[in-house]
Order: sequence, then structure tokens, then C-alpha cells
Amino acid sequence: DDTDLAATPPMGWNSWNAHSCAVTEADIRAAADAVVSTGLRDAGYEYVVVDDCWMADETADETAAEGRLRADPEAFPGGMAALADYVHDRGLKFGLYSSAGSHTCQGYPASLGRERVHAEQFADWGVDFLKYDNCGDHRGREPRDRYGAMGEALRSVDRDILYSICEWGRHDPWLWAREAGGHMWRVTDDAVAKWRVDGDAFGLGIADIIDRVADLDTASSHGPGGWSDPDMLQVGNGPDSGQSRHEPTDVVRPLTPAENRTHFAFWCLLGAPLFVGTDLTDIDEGVLDILTTDRLVAVDQDPLGAQGTPDRRTADAEVWSKPLHDGGAAVALWNRGSEPRDLRAHVDETALPSAADRYAVCDCWTGETWETAGDLRAAVDPRDTAVLRVTPA
Ligand code: DGJ
Repeated sequence: DDTDLAATPPMGWNSWNAHSCAVTEADIRAAADAVVSTGLRDAGYEYVVVDDCWMADETADETAAEGRLRADPEAFPGGMAALADYVHDRGLKFGLYSSAGSHTCQGYPASLGRERVHAEQFADWGVDFLKYDNCGDHRGREPRDRYGAMGEALRSVDRDILYSICEWGRHDPWLWAREAGGHMWRVTDDAVAKWRVDGDAFGLGIADIIDRVADLDTASSHGPGGWSDPDMLQVGNGPDSGQSRHEPTDVVRPLTPAENRTHFAFWCLLGAPLFVGTDLTDIDEGVLDILTTDRLVAVDQDPLGAQGTPDRRTADAEVWSKPLHDGGAAVALWNRGSEPRDLRAHVDETALPSAADRYAVCDCWTGETWETAGDLRAAVDPRDTAVLRVTPA
């Protein structure tokens, strides 16, 4: 059924953060090859998704008269069915993008009012995943109605298509996106490859998103079948990455290793969909190590499907925790300051469901294990995050 399609948070790679609007068929093929060769597929990353800008911009073409979508013949000369085959042949699933409006965010033809026709095209092409954006003319229709129309169209076709609702959290999608057929729904604006974004600049930094999510009440609808999405991963990205190339010069450096780790740790603690957004043909070993840390991926993919929530937030440090299916919890200790610190928490202030005499602790980054009667501690570098898996012994 619908829940099985996204029993745990969806994982994959998406073109937007790496290639922006310059994406081509060759980039997608290379990404699919690299998802396999880097070991990302074996770590659980499954979908390869083409984001915005794949469509031919046709205003006077007969395909447009029928309201069908066509791939840009220059960027995607082989067409989408062949590209889907290429991705499937590598044991992966294929995703496409459209928008719940007249046009996509970059001005390409989109799907409002053409949901059935487009859903049938997607199914015929072998599409397994649709990311559905919120740009273009909405023709006065509410998000629930626009997103519900595509949800219904996707359910009516003879193929399982995971439905990713990209409404940016403007109308509390955590309250209605499941009912609209969604398997994941964005809860914030776009993440950019920065720690913080000042003032009016575009997007949110990684720390901005964590702060934002802490203040949202998205946990109750999050779980098997449907997931709150704080946007795709910028792990490994910086000023030279796709989307950032179009930004003003205040992007001065890539995310640091500590920032990349905090980004990944929080997305796993939140049980977020994990969509890698870095160029895999040129990926740094350290970045790959972060993305394939199996103990953290297991926290993300925990079958209970809880969303981690904050236990304690101060200017210098935060403690968050997420209950796990085995009766334990993952506890994150985030150093928000600029000096290395010994961070502490006690099991009683976390999501650990029951009091026990002893707990087994495992550091998800290093694999180091120990026991405790309840005190949790970790030495944490500035902007870094320790994640401890704590299990009643
Ligand atoms: C806005 C979305 O939030 C992004 O993730 C990306 O899909 C762009 N639109 C594409 O134009």
C-alpha cells in the first residue's frame, strides 16, 4: 500500500544542489553510475532525481497543445524513458520534477490542470518518484487542492510513484500533505550551502534550518508513509556548487567538516529524507564518509519513524533526542559555540522511554561504546554534533 512506498525516509540523489538549471542527461547518467561506484547505493541511497529544467520550453508545439510534457531535446536527447532504463539498470529508482502551477520555478511548463496526462506520462516513462514544486500561476487554487489533484492522479496510474510535496512549509503541509497523497513534504524554504544566511539573502543556512525546525510542530504527522522534509543535503557543497554559483559573493567557503557533520547528524535525528546534492563525480572521501556513516543512516531509517525533537536549547549548546524502535534513543549534543566543549546531558531529560539502571552507549560517529548509569557526555568541536545511541542495558 501507500505506506510501504515510504516505510522509512526516502534516500537518494537529486540534481538541483549540484547542477542547478544546467543539468543534462549526461549528468544524470554519471550520477547514477557514481551512486553505485561510491557505495552510496549499498548505504541505502536509492532514487536518482532530475530536478527543475528538464522540460522543453514549448509554447507553439503540438505536444503543448495536447498538454503533454517533453524533455528538452538538447539537454536530454535520449528522452526520459531511456534515462529511466539507465537508472533502473543500475538497481536504482528514477525521479522527475514538476510544479503545482502553470510553470516551474525556472519558467518551464508544469502540471497544474494537466495532472492526469502528466501522471500517465510519468508512469509510461518508468518514473518512480515525483518532486512537485510550488511555482507558477496557481490560478487562485489553494495548496491542498493543487497538491491533492496530483496525488489523486499519481494514485490512479498503474505504477508506484513516491510523491514529494515541495510547498516550502508555507501553509503547514504537515497538517494536510499526507491526505493529499504525499510521502514527504518540505517544511522550510531552500537550504543553501552556508552555515547561516544573513538578512534578505536567498534561502536558509544549515543552522537556520535546525533553529526553524525546532520551532515548528511537525512531529505528529511524521512517520512511516510520510515524512517532514527540511530540504535536501548540502553536505559537501560550497561556493562552487551548482545552486551557489548563481548567488551573490557572500558565499565565501564550503561547509566545514564540522558543519557537514552537524548537517547530516540533524537530518538523521529528524528522520528526514536524505537526498545527497553534491557532485558525486568529484566527491571528497571525507564527505563520502559522512554520508555513508551506517550508524547514523540507521538512526535516520529507524523503523519506528519518530522525528527527533529538542530537549534543551541554549545559546551555546543543544540536546535533541529521537526514540528508536529497540526501546533506546539517539541523543544529539550540538556545540553551538566557538570553543571545543565537553557537552553533557542526562537520560532523564531525553526521549528515552523508561528508567533503567544501566545504559549501553555507542558514539554514532566513532563506534566507540561504553556504559552509563544515566550521564551522557561527549567532547564536541565548535559547530560539531555528537550523536549517542543509548539503549537500556
Ligand atoms: C524551489 C525548490 O524548493 C528547490 O528545491 C528546487 O526544486 C527549485 N525550486 C527548482 O527551481
